[in-house]
Amino acid sequence: MKDQEFRNKVKRIYLGVTLFFGLLVMGAGALIYKLTDPSFLSFDEEKRTETYSKADNFDKIENGIHLATGFKDDVGLQTVIVSCTPCHSAKLVTQNRANKEGWISIIRWMQETQNLWDLGNNESVIVNYLAKNYAPEEKGRRDNLEDIEWYDLEK
Ligand code: HEC
Repeated sequence: MKDQEFRNKVKRIYLGVTLFFGLLVMGAGALIYKLTDPSFLSFDEEKRTETYSKADNFDKIENGIHLATGFKDDVGLQTVIVSCTPCHSAKLVTQNRANKEGWISIIRWMQETQNLWDLGNNESVIVNYLAKNYAPEEKGRRDNLEDIEWYDLEK
């Protein structure tokens, strides 16, 4: 009986020692890993502020331009950002020019061939925004007239 108790005691001590060394090895492992990769398990401020400032910058508008996308700031900007940047860069939008009908047909084309979803009530907001801010560029002054036969006005 005493023999059995002794054996149990030894077992428990053995278990405790094994557990202790196990934890020690894990701790040492983590420490070594930390030395090779300092960002491991560190919740340092620097990273967090970086994330926050990026989020702040996303709404930044300078000289009427939404910096993160390059879109012009106007009514409907947020709707356009949400609807028109998931699949491609905003540049693809801003480098194009069209009137209302033109923008609607571009949207229809994407809906028919590129899986663009139904924009619902947002469509008119988006089309108004695009037709106003990305309208066909107006030609400046017309070209000079050439080879015209002038005539004298009768008195
Ligand atoms: C579901 C994905 C998706 C969404 C959302 C999307 N597009 Fe597109 N769009 C595309 C694809 C795909 C192309 C083709 C890209 C290419 O040719 O490389 C494209 C091309 C374009 C083009 C270029 C067309 C041309 O003739 O070259 C314009 C302009 C455009 N999209 C505007 C928009 C606008 C405005 C919105 C918001 C209403 C929008 N896109 C939202 C998928 C999308």
